[in-house]
Amino acid sequence: MLSEKMQAALNEQVKIEAQSSQVYLAMASWAEIQPGIDNITQFFYNHSDEERMHMLKLIHFINERGGFAKVPALEQPILTFPSISHAFDALLKHEIFVSESINKLVDISLQDKDYATHNFLQWYVAEQIEEESLARTMKDKLEMIGDEKSGLYLFDKDIIELSTPKDPMI
Ligand code: FEO
Repeated sequence: MLSEKMQAALNEQVKIEAQSSQVYLAMASWAEIQPGIDNITQFFYNHSDEERMHMLKLIHFINERGGFAKVPALEQPILTFPSISHAFDALLKHEIFVSESINKLVDISLQDKDYATHNFLQWYVAEQIEEESLARTMKDKLEMIGDEKSGLYLFDKDIIELSTPKDPMI
């Protein structure tokens, strides 16, 4: 059974994951109307879907542990960006914020001696390490190539390989 505090914190994370999905959906929609970055656009759409999956996983977990997952109201995300680099900067900052939030959940699960939730959260801890690392790699690449058309063309090709998991077991 989840403590009240744990349940409230997990529900807050439901909102954060749902909001993340909206944030990346907005990036995807903006990218879709920029010329020549189809793969970057698809990356944002895929990322938005992944965040929804993160949210659903939490909803099922809360309900299965005797709590009640509350579907949250969401804020309108930022809709436009000065450049692709700005969008990826925002993505990295957002992922760092999500990681901090997951860490707080882990703290609460330990305070509660709630080892089932602690175990469940390890998936999110690992996921955040990957997502932050991917976002950093992309931001660094974009800083190197800049926003010129030729660089972006190459980045748009690279992003398929960059965002494909390296581990064949995944
Ligand atoms: Fe589910 Fe990218 O945080």
